[in-house]
Amino acid sequence: MKPPRDKRRPSKARPGQPAQAAFRPLPGGAAPRARSAEAAAPKQAPAHAPASPRQPVPRRTGALPAENLPLILEVLPNADYALLDSGDGEKLEQYGPYRIVRPEGQAIWRRALPERDWANVDAVFTGDTDEEGIGRWRFPRQPLGETWPMTYAGLSYLGRFTSFRHVGVFPEQASHWSHMEGLIRAAHRPVKVLNLFGYTGLASLVAARAGAEVTHVDASKKAIGWARENQELARLSDKPIRWICDDAMKFVEREARRDSRYDLILFDPPAYGRGPKGEVWQLFEDLPAMADLCRQILTPKPLAVVLTAYSIRASFFAIHALMRDTFAGMGGRVESGELIIREKSAGRALSTSLFSRWVAR
Ligand SMILES: C[S@@+](CC[C@H](N)C(=O)[O-])C[C@H]1O[C@@H](n2cnc3c(N)ncnc32)[C@H](O)[C@@H]1O
Repeated sequence: MKPPRDKRRPSKARPGQPAQAAFRPLPGGAAPRARSAEAAAPKQAPAHAPASPRQPVPRRTGALPAENLPLILEVLPNADYALLDSGDGEKLEQYGPYRIVRPEGQAIWRRALPERDWANVDAVFTGDTDEEGIGRWRFPRQPLGETWPMTYAGLSYLGRFTSFRHVGVFPEQASHWSHMEGLIRAAHRPVKVLNLFGYTGLASLVAARAGAEVTHVDASKKAIGWARENQELARLSDKPIRWICDDAMKFVEREARRDSRYDLILFDPPAYGRGPKGEVWQLFEDLPAMADLCRQILTPKPLAVVLTAYSIRASFFAIHALMRDTFAGMGGRVESGELIIREKSAGRALSTSLFSRWVAR
């Protein structure tokens, strides 16, 4: 297999390790929201590029933005999605028409609902590594297809049984979507949105529906294909969305050189991932540079930059400090905390990820 061509970013990952290995596809992990760059990962990771010096991240001066923390953004059970119950290392969720059981390492408490509710389900993620794709799921009632119709606030898209226990959507992100939608609509002017690590495109579709011109970037051709399918299903094919399969870091570096500018940027990077040409993304090494590049490619009247992080050994204080330093001298405020999902059965909070966002006003 050819070595990756991008030699810019060194990697500490184990040689030959597939990108998926950095995620937690199987039960038992304790980190919040283990999500994967599943589709982005080449089947076998190419050998690593030799280390090369990274560009130093500039130290930004000026007054630090105001701060608001901790901020806990909560998704409540609703008609499209609900966390029905959790406990004993698993969670029981309703995704549109289906009740689904998946591993949840954080659910160290006992289930609130009786066994019959947990048995009466449509799909269970088994994580059977001898199987591929949908084979890692068990369907207790009847065999199901790979996808099924879902909606978010009237927007149609596809739920999907993937090999890494994900279902094509991260419901906790809805807190960011509604915030972003409010900013776009309140701007009363053309708004350009950049969605980095965009996966199946829900944020891109919400932004486009609100009237923004959207650029969506993901390393995975497969994920871009799913996002395009979602665009059609949502009847937003006439909306201006650029679907770009690229390494997120390379893309923002290029945009900075080309003087391309955005009013609102979302970035939701994995702890570890690969670009389409094997470029290595390591959150702890690359996040400061990416945050600064996001600052560099803002328009003169920006709205916000929203960062989500998950499956990392860090508190939101860490990304809060990074975002405040990065946006020094820009005014506005940085608010940081956790994205949580509120459970229907006993009202417990399931933390999924950390976030930090700079908001211009
Ligand atoms: C967990 S998903 C992000 C979820 C998305 N924000 C949402 O709410 O649906 C992470 C995405 O990052 C992509 N990815 C991983 N490494 C990448 C890289 N170096 N450049 C661009 N995208 C990458 C993966 O393909 C995956 O779709």
